[in-house]
Amino acid sequence: MSTPNVHILFFTIFTGLLLSTLCDINQTQNDVALFIFGDALNDAGTNNYINTTAFFRANFSPYGETFFHYPTGRITDGRIMADFIAEYAKLPLIPPYLQLKNDEFVGGANFASIGAGALPETFAGFVVDFKTQRKQFESLVKNLRDNLGDEKAERIVLDGVYFISIGLNDYVAVLNNPALFQSVSMEDYVGMVVGNISTVLEDIYKVGARKFGFTTMLPVGCLPAIRLASGNGSCLRQGTELSNLHNAAFPATLAKLESQLQGFKYSLFDLYTSLTERIQHPSNYGFKDGETACCGSGPYGGDYSCGGMRGVREYSLCPNPAEYVFFDSDHLSERAYHQFAQLIWNGSSPTTKPYNLEALFKHGNV
Ligand SMILES: *[C@@H]1O[C@H](CO)[C@@H](O)[C@H](O)[C@H]1NC(C)=O
Ligand SMILES: *[C@@H]1O[C@H](CO)[C@@H](O)[C@H](O)[C@H]1NC(C)=O
Ligand SMILES: *[C@@H]1O[C@H](CO)[C@@H](O)[C@H](O)[C@H]1NC(C)=O
Ligand SMILES: *[C@@H]1O[C@H](CO)[C@@H](O)[C@H](O)[C@H]1NC(C)=O
Ligand SMILES: *[C@@H]1O[C@H](CO)[C@@H](O)[C@H](O)[C@H]1NC(C)=O
Repeated sequence: MSTPNVHILFFTIFTGLLLSTLCDINQTQNDVALFIFGDALNDAGTNNYINTTAFFRANFSPYGETFFHYPTGRITDGRIMADFIAEYAKLPLIPPYLQLKNDEFVGGANFASIGAGALPETFAGFVVDFKTQRKQFESLVKNLRDNLGDEKAERIVLDGVYFISIGLNDYVAVLNNPALFQSVSMEDYVGMVVGNISTVLEDIYKVGARKFGFTTMLPVGCLPAIRLASGNGSCLRQGTELSNLHNAAFPATLAKLESQLQGFKYSLFDLYTSLTERIQHPSNYGFKDGETACCGSGPYGGDYSCGGMRGVREYSLCPNPAEYVFFDSDHLSERAYHQFAQLIWNGSSPTTKPYNLEALFKHGNV
């Protein structure tokens, strides 16, 4: 073996090590922040900090019993999708924005609020709606600029991943008040919801956000609370129609944003199909029951009474929430969230497309 080759070999190993070390220091996955917006699917305790009622809270037992062993405000038995995504991205649990003290920044912030909709009138006065969440994000970015300087703040915003679940409550609210459909068609109502989501996405983009994660609308008519309203145990037809209309309009809006906004990249997880499969074939996914809520009362556990704090004191609680797709009448179990988070993280088309979140986290700018 001649000396020059050894040198080349050594040089290659050395520069390789040096480069990977430098990259590790400045480009680790956990440098990418996670910002979370939306509704009950994503709330990690926001509503503990606002003036609202028990209908929009989960700060009482048995919420949180599985993983945290105390009620955190997450409206499920344990962790939500965002908690698992943070774990996969090697980030700490992302706390509610309203819980953060002025100067601390811990890898992201969660703005999501139980009951929030894209329309400001949805459960107005009881929730932090999507537009207000956007305003809070802008305040956070201003704070980052003040504390870290413009360049660092801009880098955090640009590289960050924005995980968003919104729209469900706009449809739940209108199903509770079907008289509204005498003045507006279902199509126009869905158009308003998706239009308002689009406006907020453009605003967040203007602040510097580029990489977004979304889910399709779940089968609203099959939530135990809504199924109850069908009278015969089927999924409520109007709920399914709203989901279908949303799931036609929303992906089209995302494709349009991608074509109009330079650098806008997104991941869309097909929550509608994945949840429907689990409702219809629970045992294929390790569940015993796909239709009935673990915690609550009435047919299908469809009464929103879990915890006994919402006017009805009596409720029943299943011994093992992991056997159920639904934890309460309107919300999923930790196990369902865990399965969905994995599909969001590294699922592939047609379930998760055009990117998965792992891809959006890994490539600084895809
Ligand atoms: C890594 O970051 C430090 C401090 O932010 C900076 O001084 C250094 O030049 C960066 N190194 C590389 C390789 O980008
Ligand atoms: C909270 O809301 C209730 C009912 O809407 C109201 O009576 C009360 O004054 C509010 N409290 C605060 C601190 O805003
Ligand atoms: C947003 O919702 C409001 C109702 O709150 C509606 O009047 C408006 O047209 C919607 N905006 C878009 C862009 O669809
Ligand atoms: C339940 O009622 C709806 C109409 O309200 C009907 O379309 C559906 O087939 C019924 N389902 C069952 C299982 O009877
Ligand atoms: C997907 O991610 C989950 C969670 O990190 C992991 O357990 C699983 O092995 C991954 N699957 C593939 C195919 O990479």
